[in-house]
Amino acid sequence: MITVHRRGRKRQFLQLIFTCFFFSLALIYWEQLDANVLSHVKSYSYRYLVNRYSFLNDTLTLDKETAANLHSFPYLITHANKCQDQAVLLLLFVKTAPENRQRRDAIRQTWGNEHYIKSELKATIKVIFVLGVHKDLSQRDLVQSRILMEDQQHSDLIQQDFYDDFHNLTLKLIFQFKWANTFCLNAKFVMSSDDDVFVHTPNLVNYLLQLDKGINNFWIGRVHRGAPPIRNKESKYYVSYEMYQWPAYPDYTAGAAYVVSQDVAVKVYEALMTLNSSLYIDDVFMGLCAKKMGVAPQPHIYFAGEGKTPYHPCIYNEMMTSHGHVKDIHHLWREATHAKVTSLVSGFWGQLYCRVVKVFLLCKPYFVDTYPCIAAFS
Ligand SMILES: *[C@@H]1O[C@H](CO)[C@@H](O)[C@H](O)[C@H]1NC(C)=O
Ligand SMILES: *[C@@H]1O[C@H](CO)[C@@H](O)[C@H](O)[C@H]1NC(C)=O
Ligand SMILES: *[C@@H]1O[C@H](CO)[C@@H](O)[C@H](O)[C@H]1NC(C)=O
Repeated sequence: MITVHRRGRKRQFLQLIFTCFFFSLALIYWEQLDANVLSHVKSYSYRYLVNRYSFLNDTLTLDKETAANLHSFPYLITHANKCQDQAVLLLLFVKTAPENRQRRDAIRQTWGNEHYIKSELKATIKVIFVLGVHKDLSQRDLVQSRILMEDQQHSDLIQQDFYDDFHNLTLKLIFQFKWANTFCLNAKFVMSSDDDVFVHTPNLVNYLLQLDKGINNFWIGRVHRGAPPIRNKESKYYVSYEMYQWPAYPDYTAGAAYVVSQDVAVKVYEALMTLNSSLYIDDVFMGLCAKKMGVAPQPHIYFAGEGKTPYHPCIYNEMMTSHGHVKDIHHLWREATHAKVTSLVSGFWGQLYCRVVKVFLLCKPYFVDTYPCIAAFS
């Protein structure tokens, strides 16, 4: 025990020395250093502090009533019985805007098709679209009546009475965890994704089915470590010092797609109920909640975050999610679930071929935002 402790201390000490040394160098060469790189390095070093100390908790914790008042919006569409009396493997929320009917239809016909998963993989998933109300008063009634019609047809929308807006994404996050904790506690896993994400549901379901039955503290996605808040007022992701005063966020997964186990969904909900939810970047806020509960994310190499999958059968066999798909969603679904994919990648020659292809596709010397190079060697 004692040696382990000492070793830990020594490592911390070395980290501190290294950080000081780096900052001295950075001060000397301040002008030459790219400001962007510097802020990343600074926040990455700072991450050790944020991840260790409890000042996040102390600053952001509110009493329960005050916190609840920040997000007590009435339900407009609920579907309280959606999960009842079934063994649900995965509850999959898709964040979508009221006017994005076409995207929802495309998802229903492809990766969000519950019946396909049931018949092919014998697993129950629930795909639910999460909405607020249309922000523009002149169109709201029309859009809302279409929403209600769409829901009569498909029974897969849930809606709460807040404006559907980028800056209200944290309200949408709270809505998802609240709904999951109220109506679907029997789901083993909970996922959140965007409506322009392609989720390879067959791969994902197979992966989740293979996990240990009693898995706990499970949270996967594309992990951002030590990401700095953006202080540039022009940016969509601008965050003021009043909202978040520290130079780095705790580790979190990109909001485009992540999966948590049921116990984590419960813990995050618990934290949500006591934190000041004014920070409107939803995935960061989710990271704060998890941090408070002592849950840390694990990277999964085939979750793309903001990135896009290379279009190739050698990848389709293993991909989990990919971002930025609207027009090509049907095409990608057909290709990625085609029987030829499995036959191509199997056997010695198939595996060798795919290894080479993956190195070529993922390990380019210049930056392409897709899966990390290491995925080629997994
Ligand atoms: C977080 O803060 C609240 C109130 O300030 C306190 O009751 C709670 O014990 C703290 N939790 C942790 C994990 O430090
Ligand atoms: C978020 O929703 C609330 C409730 O509808 C609304 O008052 C507020 O203006 C919305 N925020 C944004 C940025 O649209
Ligand atoms: C929550 O934090 C914001 C700053 O982001 C602050 O203006 C607000 O007063 C806080 N809310 C409460 C209830 O403390």
